[in-house]
Amino acid sequence: MARTILVTGGGTGIGRALAEHFAAVGDHVVLTGRRPGPLKEAADALPGATGLVCDHADPAALLRLAAELPERLDILVNNAGGQTDFDADGATDLASYARDFRANLDANLLSAALTTRAVDDRLAAGGAVIHIGSIAADQGSGSYGAAKAGLASWNIDLARTLGPRGITANVVSPGYITDTEFFRDQLADERRERLIADTATGCPGSPDDIIGAVAFLASPGARHITGQVLNVNGGAHPTR
Ligand SMILES: NC(=O)c1ccc[n+]([C@@H]2O[C@H](COP(=O)([O-])OP(=O)(O)OC[C@H]3O[C@@H](n4cnc5c(N)ncnc54)[C@H](OP(=O)(O)O)[C@@H]3O)[C@@H](O)[C@H]2O)c1
Repeated sequence: MARTILVTGGGTGIGRALAEHFAAVGDHVVLTGRRPGPLKEAADALPGATGLVCDHADPAALLRLAAELPERLDILVNNAGGQTDFDADGATDLASYARDFRANLDANLLSAALTTRAVDDRLAAGGAVIHIGSIAADQGSGSYGAAKAGLASWNIDLARTLGPRGITANVVSPGYITDTEFFRDQLADERRERLIADTATGCPGSPDDIIGAVAFLASPGARHITGQVLNVNGGAHPTR
């Protein structure tokens, strides 16, 4: 039976690759984003997909989104987010520091929590919530890493809340992934080479490398896996 899948931030990068995968296996995909242009382009390319404009850090926008969503959601992928410091104006006074810190918390932590809350009553038994975290949660990257670490911590409680309803909640935590808008063309060659050298494989990840982990956590085979972080980073952050 076709599932209904909400992929936030599905217009570009990892979210777009995930939306393409789920549409290709016959699921009904709803994808979201703030910019209508990339969203429409992505949605139009997918059979049966729906693109809906939404800022996932804005409660009012989420209420409008919830009113447009199908009554049943099988899978929620909280992918929207990114390193908002790339958009900061460089001001270093305390008020600017607070603004920039909050921007990352809003984009990467609050967005997932608000979205999950907004669609909670539509999440179907047997379904799954999957957040896209980051290796930054374990390696540190200022307020961005703090937000992604907070996401993984908050997910533990979410897993306990949703568990009795037969719904799992997990984090897929990528390392460096190419071919997305994440770095806004601001990634210096030296840093890119270091990120690749940090891996055990000697390769950067691509959006397609995230598909397998998310598809698995969304599948019946992962029913007993919840409250976890699944790292997809080519060994850049090994674990025991
Ligand atoms: N690329 C990497 O190396 C990497 C590594 C680890 C983790 N990640 C994580 O992977 C996820 C996807 O990022 P990506 O690499 O695919 O970069 P991306 O191409 O910039 O994708 C992020 C998407 O999220 C959307 N978005 C951002 N904030 C949003 C908001 N408040 N409301 C709605 N949509 C929003 C963006 O569209 P609009 O701007 O149109 O809203 C964009 O389509 C992010 O959570 C990121 O933190 C990426």
